[in-house]
Amino acid sequence: YKSQEALKLGMIDTIAEGELRQFAVKFAKTAQKNPLSSKTVEKDESAEFDAIVKKALRAGKHRPPVQESIRLIKATADIEFYESLAEERRVFQQLRIGEEAFARRHLFFAETNAKKVINLKEAPIKPVKNIVVVGAGTMGTGIAVSALKAGFHVTVYDQSKSILVQCKSRIDSIYEADITSGRIKTEQRDVQLAQLELSDYKSAFENADLVIEAIFENLAVKQDLIRKIESIASANTIIASNTSYIDLDEIAEVSLRPENIVGIHFFNPAHIMRLVEVIHGNNTSQEVIATAFALVQKLGKLPIICKNSFGFIGNRIYADYRYQCELMLEEGALPHQIDEAIERYGFNMGPFAVGDLSGLDIAWNMRKANAHKRNPEARYVSIPDQICELGRFGVKTQAGYYSYADGKKQIDPVITELIMYASEQKKIVRKEFSSEQIVERVLLTMANEAALLLAEGVTARMNDIDLVMINGFGFPKWEGGPAYWASRQNLDELYEKQKALAEV
Ligand code: NAI
Repeated sequence: YKSQEALKLGMIDTIAEGELRQFAVKFAKTAQKNPLSSKTVEKDESAEFDAIVKKALRAGKHRPPVQESIRLIKATADIEFYESLAEERRVFQQLRIGEEAFARRHLFFAETNAKKVINLKEAPIKPVKNIVVVGAGTMGTGIAVSALKAGFHVTVYDQSKSILVQCKSRIDSIYEADITSGRIKTEQRDVQLAQLELSDYKSAFENADLVIEAIFENLAVKQDLIRKIESIASANTIIASNTSYIDLDEIAEVSLRPENIVGIHFFNPAHIMRLVEVIHGNNTSQEVIATAFALVQKLGKLPIICKNSFGFIGNRIYADYRYQCELMLEEGALPHQIDEAIERYGFNMGPFAVGDLSGLDIAWNMRKANAHKRNPEARYVSIPDQICELGRFGVKTQAGYYSYADGKKQIDPVITELIMYASEQKKIVRKEFSSEQIVERVLLTMANEAALLLAEGVTARMNDIDLVMINGFGFPKWEGGPAYWASRQNLDELYEKQKALAEV
């Protein structure tokens, strides 16, 4: 247990047994004073310590707070206690007015404000006790776990019995992992799991306060489901869709009560990711939006409201970011150069590594399905299509932007050649990109898309865009978010750079 570890390390004096107050009083009367200042710190030159430092520096190479923390911790072995405290205070004062501190404060206030949704204050919230999750796949399973942990009665409905069985065993193993890591006690798990039902009968919808669908990403299938739910559920039942890209208003077209239809867009893995976009359709009532917002908060997550629009906030910015990176491939960069630049900036993974991991075929299918909607004037990069045409769908086929022979990510000359050839075909003279240039183009792109989202009224709040990118898409917290970045630039320069990028 962690308390035992703390005792071993000398962080605490003892572990209380029996009745806490009595124990504490007795201990305080009898214990020897053992102040921290009298302890000596031994120099740690172990490989373990080095490994921890390395890990902290991986995302913090350029971050003064990380560098200084490491330096100060190391220094405790060499400097006397009070001198060490003074030095720590000096560094703190200095970092407090540093770039990262500003960014962090921005996010703190962004989160505080995200909780205050002005026009929702008066809207009544509908009571929600019984949740039905439709679709026992990747997302449905995660959503069900979130709802169980928040104390809801959850029915998971799927058309397939065998998928329900798989779903149950995935839920069990998520709980098992939580018990092993000490996050939850066995008794708590039993109480929560007693609230779970799995069903392939439509009658599951009868007592639902809220149904959330996470079925196949297909309009007709989703519309069918709405009809089915409405034929059974009560007129008060809220129906939420977890769709990523389908137009919520089109889904709601078949509804008898479109005011009850809302988008609740979770991110994968849904039981872990904090961000949830709450989507306001044309007809969604304020009451339903307020209820969805409150529900997401009850799940311990961060709800961000936005208007129905392609890709909502996050996926829309992400799609444009990826597109910008593809443009850079054509112009002279290679996937690993872009990924490395983005990772150095602070993302856990660059866009091509992410693509390989999540599967390139999903976006490929979507591009094919939406080919008729594409703007013929816009520059189209066919490199991703060509990669998919080779049957390279990413990690699952052991090949994508990289090759994964024996599981290790490697630069693949086949892809380098394919990219070079694509540039040649378009008569683009390839040029070198520095890491800074790559990152700047990405930030300009995200900032531009953020501005468009504001202009179109998809969201009214710049800060919400930062919260989305940080909590759902791995944008480094210490940079404050893409809109914050834009707000810190010289406006004239930013405008000139955006104009130049638009030309590209
Ligand atoms: P999945 O393929 O893992 O699961 C879908 C499940 O729905 C399957 O178990 C299937 O049997 C069931 N199903 C299909 N039609 C049904 C019907 N008419 N009635 C009952 N059950 C039905 O799919 P996944 O990845 O969980 O995605 C579900 C939805 O969530 C999609 O709309 C997707 O766009 C969205 N989404 C997915 C994310 C992801 O990263 N996978 C992230 C955010 C949203």
